[in-house]
Amino acid sequence: MLVSAKDMLVKAKAGKYAVGQFNINNLEWTKAALITAQECNSPIILGVSEGAGKYMTGFKTVAAMVKAMIEELKITVPVALHLDHGTYDGCYKCIEAGFSSIMFDGSHYPIDENVAKTKELVGVCAEKGMSLEAEVGSIGGEEDGVIGKGECADPAECKQIADLGVTMLAAGIGNIHGKYPENWEGLSFETLDAIQKLTGDMPLVLHGGTGIPEDMIKKAISLGVAKINVNTECQLSFAAATRKYIEEGKDLSGKGFDPRKLLNPGFEAIKATIKEKMELFGSVGKA
Ligand code: 13P
Repeated sequence: MLVSAKDMLVKAKAGKYAVGQFNINNLEWTKAALITAQECNSPIILGVSEGAGKYMTGFKTVAAMVKAMIEELKITVPVALHLDHGTYDGCYKCIEAGFSSIMFDGSHYPIDENVAKTKELVGVCAEKGMSLEAEVGSIGGEEDGVIGKGECADPAECKQIADLGVTMLAAGIGNIHGKYPENWEGLSFETLDAIQKLTGDMPLVLHGGTGIPEDMIKKAISLGVAKINVNTECQLSFAAATRKYIEEGKDLSGKGFDPRKLLNPGFEAIKATIKEKMELFGSVGKA
């Protein structure tokens, strides 16, 4: 069932668990994510970056594929199709394409401009019954060529954006996209605590879910994080399983070169990673 992310995140925040956003790249990724969510009876958010949208030939293709798969696979758990780190123009493209949720990442604008653009999109999303994620304080690391510095968000600015009526708020708390460097100082729970105190019931979003130790994930959830984004970890498990298949020469025996066979170990690896994360985040059985 394609839905906005609002209800699933309000329930998650109240129930002290988090819903995973898993980024999709192609048909295998999408199918793996949907089937795992159904098997785990868990809500799920499918994240699509602007680069991945382009790779899949456009947001319309993505929306059509996801809607058709939900129907053909008889997926009954709540599924949100969400633009990840959207630009202002990208947000409007996804609204038009039939996404159920968008993220407007205005974190690189001066706060007044971030507020103005976010406010406009709050109105548009409300009209369409879509959910909207906003961002304050950029997330570190590199994603799709966008490099963030990884500063901690200013809690007062978070409140300013939360008060506009967004559905969920991503705030930088020292988190980084991609693998964490050896000298990473960890999440700033002080910042998260201050943000949660000022924003109350607002579901908070933790980007850069790959590689954050389990105890930090649990603590972040206890301090108001209700959505956690995972991308790189599925890519790493897909690549490792595919490498193993080829290194074992399985593509060279019989019809092992058939893409449906060649891509299957990677597909199963994505499923296993998503299941593991859903268990850690506490969303299993919460559909
Ligand atoms: P990772 O790639 O580090 O898991 O981050 C994903 C993310 O935050 C997508 O917005």
